[in-house]
Amino acid sequence: MKEQLLAIRKSAEEKLVSLTSLQELEDVRVSVLGKKGELTQVLRQMGALSAEERPIIGALANEVREAIESALSERKTVLLAKAREEKLAKEVIDVTMAGKKPEIGGLHPITKVLDEVKNIFLGMGFSIAEGPDVELDYYNFEALNIPKEHPARDTQDTFYVSDNVVLRTQTSPMQIRVMEKAKPPIRIIAPGRVYRSDAVDATHSPVFHQIEGLVVDKGITMADLKGTLEQFIKSLYGQDAKIRLRPHHFPFTEPSAEVDVSCFVCGGKGCRVCKGEGFIEILGAGMVHPDVLRRCNIDPDEYSGFAFGLGLERIVMRRMNIDDMRHLYENDVRFLKQF
Ligand code: PHE
Repeated sequence: MKEQLLAIRKSAEEKLVSLTSLQELEDVRVSVLGKKGELTQVLRQMGALSAEERPIIGALANEVREAIESALSERKTVLLAKAREEKLAKEVIDVTMAGKKPEIGGLHPITKVLDEVKNIFLGMGFSIAEGPDVELDYYNFEALNIPKEHPARDTQDTFYVSDNVVLRTQTSPMQIRVMEKAKPPIRIIAPGRVYRSDAVDATHSPVFHQIEGLVVDKGITMADLKGTLEQFIKSLYGQDAKIRLRPHHFPFTEPSAEVDVSCFVCGGKGCRVCKGEGFIEILGAGMVHPDVLRRCNIDPDEYSGFAFGLGLERIVMRRMNIDDMRHLYENDVRFLKQF
């Protein structure tokens, strides 16, 4: 039996040297140490040994088993390390390879220009006020000297939610909302969406944006209005830009004016874009009507103010050279990407 045991150890050790995979290693383990393995078979015959031989062979058998077990585990460590290395070699990541660039969106041209306009006015000490798109008839019309049967309502038809609630046709209701709450000095702009029953074409949309401006304080005059607008236009279009005030009528300002800016293409000489005028209309303005002040509990003998309402789309189109307003709303990425 002693020879048998030594032979098993020798053959096991030889097999271990030549095998190359974990599966082969496991096969060797089972064939030697398993239930039906060579060593197990030999040990089964121990019963046939004499009392003197048994402890000697038993000790040898244990020694052989331990030797084989430790050889197995050594080999296993080597094979595992080898397998790991092979796996790493196969899964090399090239960190210098160019990555996929994620698509990032940008700001809409209307948002961009609005931000620019806001910054100019913030720089002049204005703050920003916001109000509801769904507005009371009182704020949108009545409080602005436009009672129910006033002809000015014809040009500003809109969606009536009820007799007293409308989609606002202008940002001017913000004049009232601000003056009802704040005491002069007041210096705000109020940008937002406005709604009118207009058919869509290159220069009209039933939904568009205005920016309202309002200044109320002691001793405010038309000269302040003109100076403020001039400063704004020069900041937006450059130092060469000029403005022109034409007399006009709005029910809630007196006197009122329409304000034109010198054509950004020809600089005032007259061309196709300004239709030979040299100027392009961009806003309505005027001195806040005394009745409007009074309605908001501001004494017109003590305070005066000016207001203006600017069409944002027109400014965006001029600023970015866009010839059709519909481009601004169709959300065609090929168009929007350009800005
Ligand atoms: N709200 C007027 C309009 O939409 C413009 C305006 C605003 C005029 C403020 C005067 C003062 O036509």
